Formats: sequence, structure tokens, C-alpha cells
Amino acid sequence: MAVPRTAPILVASNRGPVSYTLGEDGSLTARRGGGGLVSGLSAIGPDANAVWVCAALGEGDRAAARRAGDSHLNPGDTGGQQVRMLDIAPDVFAAAYNGIANSVLWFIHHLLYQTPVEPVFDAEFADQWAAYEAYNAAFADALAEEAVDEAAVLVQDYHLALVPAMLRERRPDLRIGHFSHTPWAPPDYYRLLPDEVAAGVLRGILGGDRAAFLTERWAGAFADCCAAVLGAEIVRDGDGDGDGDGDGNGDGAATAVRFEGRETRLGVHGLGADADFLRQRSRQADVDERLTSLRAQIGPDRKSIVRVDRTELSKNIVRGLLAYRQLLETHPEWRERVVHVAFAYPSRQDLAVYRDYTERVRRIAEEINAEYGTEGWTPVALHVKDDFARSLAAYRLADVALVNPIRDGMNLVAKEVPVVSERGCALVLSREAGAYAELGDDALVVNPYDVEATARALDAALRMSDGERADRTKRLAAAATALPPQAWFLAQLRAL
Ligand code: G6P
Repeated sequence: MAVPRTAPILVASNRGPVSYTLGEDGSLTARRGGGGLVSGLSAIGPDANAVWVCAALGEGDRAAARRAGDSHLNPGDTGGQQVRMLDIAPDVFAAAYNGIANSVLWFIHHLLYQTPVEPVFDAEFADQWAAYEAYNAAFADALAEEAVDEAAVLVQDYHLALVPAMLRERRPDLRIGHFSHTPWAPPDYYRLLPDEVAAGVLRGILGGDRAAFLTERWAGAFADCCAAVLGAEIVRDGDGDGDGDGDGNGDGAATAVRFEGRETRLGVHGLGADADFLRQRSRQADVDERLTSLRAQIGPDRKSIVRVDRTELSKNIVRGLLAYRQLLETHPEWRERVVHVAFAYPSRQDLAVYRDYTERVRRIAEEINAEYGTEGWTPVALHVKDDFARSLAAYRLADVALVNPIRDGMNLVAKEVPVVSERGCALVLSREAGAYAELGDDALVVNPYDVEATARALDAALRMSDGERADRTKRLAAAATALPPQAWFLAQLRAL
């Protein structure tokens, strides 16, 4: 049955705003999707008359997608959002999501390969790439079906890099934007990919009218890859052709890519923290409760170094723990006086490297506790069960926040802590996080690979005076909330 075209605005992402679990009695329970992308996009709200197209991620989602029937929309409780869930064959989904998106594209953009032995581009990879194409085509088909004439379509992230070009082929009338929530690799690293894949991803995104990124650095790297791999022409701000980004500062930043007779504009929108939501949510009773138990766990008169991450190789949790161990070793005055509260929530546990990494994190935390712990003091409090209320409680009490990713598109934790912090919190921040562009002035900035320097930064953060910490936190919070999620979304839409 033909689906009537209804949507003037469409969003497409792998993970949608809700996910369902299937009960034994056949009932579906809705749960809000996780991750930075979903938090940002959820700001669209139910009023925007937008349809959000996403993949069914598990059995519950598949059941929900089937129940939606011919209209395809709103498989269950969606929190008011219009949702179309794609029931993609499980093996195709697994190969596209685990194989290509999370094991290849994520690794490329976060520089995670151990290059003497990885990556491996073999026959299995070729099959996975074919699945990735099929999965992208399924999104392009659904979007083409749902969109009214000249609708605006906002395609999200590395899972869906091929969608803009595929959708343009099906519906040349649409306005199509792509947004990357990850970093973008520099050309020499990007070219580890097989030539046709490297070119395919770029061509896919260049099929849109606009390609947007979280920082100028990632946008610039994308443009550099287009020039190096495709030989595309890069338009730069201030190069005299009047096509600059309009800020008139002529800073040479890449503003568009010209390729095969088309032009794709580049944009930068640095997703910020949602101050109103965070301040209100972090004062609720469940957060208060967790605050009390965290305080008891840390003990009176002790400082805390807090980190909150999904357990993800790019988050560099192991080096963070090693830096803390180094701090205890070289600054014995901190022993018994500080606790490292580390939240390392499970992520992508279908992949063996993620499971191994989680295990290493656990082991090193245990080693530190065995090595330095005393009867009344456990140096590392590691929590691995995802709990947003407890994260907020930790933000409230943290003296120091450690955000040291190897590379990160933005890192919202760095932006959330200063907003929620009660007495001011010193931020130790990797220069390789996108958030560094906005928060670098008031953070203690580290090279994430340098364990010694990170230990020194932790020491300086612990020693920072109350006054200085409070002043810096105020400025960090202002910078962190400059572009809250709703404004971020509307800015993309307007620019398209
Ligand atoms: C983080 C990244 C996003 C990505 C998301 C996917 O939030 O910043 O770029 O889309 O993870 O996570 P998932 O759990 O769906 O693999």
C-alpha cells in the first residue's frame, strides 16, 4: 500500500528517541534512547511536525515496527514524537552497525586502530560494506516515502553517510543535510580505508546540500579529505569569491565543497548543554538520594575526581586511571584524601574489543584499590551500571571532573558538569575533545596520551582555590550552554 507523504521535516538516525522491550505477555515497554545524538535531537519536541526515521535495534523494536502496520508510524508510545522504525533484517543490521559503523568508521574518525595489525579489509569486510549500503538504502527509501515536496531532511552521523546521495537520487526536490556527531579523521588516516569506501562515504555526504559538524576542526578535516581523496574544490572563507561563511573574518575556514558540478555547504553547530533541563532534573528526589549515598561512599573531608563515560575505547578511561595511580604515587599527600568516582557505563557490548576494554578498566581499578586502599579508604569507586540520576549527583558534588578522551566529537559531560556543579568544579579536559574549542580557556587542558601530564593536571585541579574554581565554573557553564539542543536543531534547520 502506498504511504501518503506527510512530513515537512524529517530526521534520520540509527538510534531513535525510543526503544522497546517485549514482555512475556507480548506487551511493549518504551525506554528513551541513550547517547549524545538522541539527547540533542530529542529537543525537536512533538510540535515540530517532524517524522523521525530510525532503525529497530532489538526484538522489542522489531515487534513494535511490525505492529505499526501500513502507516509505518508510531509503533508504540513514542513520547509524542512521530517515529518510523525500520525493521531491517538482523544480519544486515548487525553487519552495518557493528561491522562498518562501529568497527570501521568509528575507529577511523577516533584514530583507534593499532595500525601494525589493524584494520583488516578482507572478504568479510566486503560483505559488511554491502550490508552497510543496503541499510543506508532502506533509510533512503523510507525517507523518500515520508517526505512532502521540498521537505527538509536532517540525516545524522556515520551510520548513514550514504543516505544523502541515495536520497537525492530518489527525491531531487528535497533539501538534505547531514550532521556528523563524531570527529572527522585527517586525510592521511582516513586513507587507511579502501579507496572505493573512502570515496563512497565522502560522495554519500556530498549528495546533500549541507554537511555540518560539531567544530570547525572536524569540518576542516572533512574538507581536506574531500580534496585529498576526490580532488574536490574547497571554498574558503575570505578567498575572495564571495562564498565565505558570511562572518567576514576571512579566516580561511572551509565553507563549501564543490564536486561534479554541485556544491555542498559546510556548517558548524557546537551542540551545548540544556541548562534548564539539567538544573531542574538534578534537583529531583532520586538525585538527592544518590547524592547522599555517594557522599557516604566518598567519606567526609575527602575530595572527589569524577568521570562519567560510556565504556568506549575513545574515552581513554584506562589512561585516566593510570594518571590517578600516578597522582597517588607521586603525591602521597593525596592518599586517603581523595576518591576517584568513575562511572563507566556499558556500551556496544556485542563487540569483543569493547568487552575486553571494560574488563581492563575493571582490573586496573581493582589493582589501584589493592595497591593503595586502606581500611577506611577505597581510592577508586567504579560503577558500571548506567544510572543518569547518579551521574547528576556526581556532577553536583565533584571537585574535579576528568574528561580525557583520545578524541571526541564534542563530549557533553564536559559541558554538563559546570552547569550542575554546586560549589564549582575544576575541569581537566583533553585538547582532543570537540568541547575544547569552547571550554579550553577555563579548563586544565591535557594531551590525553600523556599520563604524567594528566596526573599533574589532576593535582593542580585538586589544589585550585575555591574562588578560582567557582569563577572558572561560571564561565565554563556560560560557554557550555551557548547553543542548547533546541537552538542547535533549529540552527541546522534554518541553515538548510
Ligand atoms: C555517541 C556519539 C554519537 C553516536 C552515538 C551512537 O553518542 O557521540 O556520534 O551516534 O554514540 O551510540 P550507539 O550506542 O547508538 O552505538
